[in-house]
Amino acid sequence: MTEPATFSVDGKTGNYPVLAGSVGPEVVDIRKLYAQTGRFTYDPGFTSTAACESKITYIDGDAGILLYRGYPIDQLAEQSSFLEVAHLLLNGNLPNPTEHADFTRNITRHTMIHEQLAQFYRGFRRDAHPMAIMCGIVGAMAAFYHDSTDIHDPQQRIIASHRLIAKMPTLAAMAYKYSIGQPFLYPDNSLSFAGNFLRMTFGVPAEPYIIDPVVEDAMEKLLILQADHEQNASTSTVRLAGSSGANPFACISAGIACLWGPAHGGANEAALNMLREIGRPERIPEFIARAKNKDDPFRLMGFGHRVYKNYDPRAKVMAGVAKTILDKLGIDDPIFDVARELEHIALNDPYFIDKKLYPNVDFYSGVVMSAIGFPTSMFTVLFAISRTVGWIAQWTEMMEDPEQKIGRPRQLYTGPTHRDYVPLNKRA
Ligand code: CMC
Repeated sequence: MTEPATFSVDGKTGNYPVLAGSVGPEVVDIRKLYAQTGRFTYDPGFTSTAACESKITYIDGDAGILLYRGYPIDQLAEQSSFLEVAHLLLNGNLPNPTEHADFTRNITRHTMIHEQLAQFYRGFRRDAHPMAIMCGIVGAMAAFYHDSTDIHDPQQRIIASHRLIAKMPTLAAMAYKYSIGQPFLYPDNSLSFAGNFLRMTFGVPAEPYIIDPVVEDAMEKLLILQADHEQNASTSTVRLAGSSGANPFACISAGIACLWGPAHGGANEAALNMLREIGRPERIPEFIARAKNKDDPFRLMGFGHRVYKNYDPRAKVMAGVAKTILDKLGIDDPIFDVARELEHIALNDPYFIDKKLYPNVDFYSGVVMSAIGFPTSMFTVLFAISRTVGWIAQWTEMMEDPEQKIGRPRQLYTGPTHRDYVPLNKRA
């Protein structure tokens, strides 16, 4: 066991236990720091702060490792299915055949949404961003599923989890259909999770929809790769919202809002837009120069990561998926060449080498989603379908954690100190 850490300030010394996880850096337990020293820690962006204990996902950012419940992400992407991974993240184990059948039945039984919820879509402008619709609609689910909102009842938590995982593809496909003025399609529970979503998105009631197994496989992999990622911004948002005892559907809606930002889930949309703007390999040096210029806010989207200081293991799998789908669908899209060349040039440039900036999952995911036929505005929505599993697994873990408290950070206050109110007519 590691010796406790010691911290002294103004002659007051406190000893702080050092806690070890199963793998990864040890953490200094500073919960008593304020009581013992009258000091807070200052860590904007939480770069050195472990906010919770978790058994779900492990990342070694220096080595480029990502494990879901101990299983390497590449093995899961190659050999597993999204629902199997969902079971793994939620319950801690890969399901045996009976558990698999039960879990699949439970999820598929919940794919339909309340008919009245469909009317909510009409309140949105046709050109509304689908992520805006998803924030609203998923939050609205809290009003429709009262029988699964007692968060202190484990059975109700399970039902809420299943509902969220099952209904997200239906809600997302409806957001897309609404934007293009086509009728909503009801789910078909005989299809796979990915297949059902593809049909609800690209099918029409007037004719049968034939699922291309290449596309279905790419979709499954995309969903698996993005299903969880430890205490990222949106997951931390879900946990923080949930820490007050809020309704789980509202918490996931908060996670969707956070995911939308271009520094997080919105990066896939931004990365594809950037690749399209670059357009051809000859223009890459111009964009590399911009990314390196301190006076230019431009960044290479899909590059860099708070945790990975090595190749993002999801990006490796995603690059393979992008190649396969373009080859098999016979799509001759120059953006894949641009992406490959950009990656090659950046990885050999001292700026990117020194700052340990590597491609992240979003660098290639846009290429894959675009090849499948999704408009860029749907990219982050797909991410949200997948990440819902991680969010709800992490929310459940938090709800079961006896150490759980309402999340309430403190601050370094630099505003005005006490001053007296001046009536309006006396102010200069
Ligand atoms: N292009 C050019 N320079 C970069 C980039 C980039 N994409 N990313 C980081 N840098 C530079 C940055 O300017 C800074 O330089 P300096 O030390 O000279 O000031 C240094 O690298 C460290 O950057 P940071 O912003 O302090 O690092 P961070 O950990 O706060 O940010 C990040 C991580 C992902 C927000 C950032 O790398 C970024 O903006 N990347 C582009 C957006 C993107 O691809 N986001 C998707 C993240 S992966 C999906 C997910 O898990 O949600």
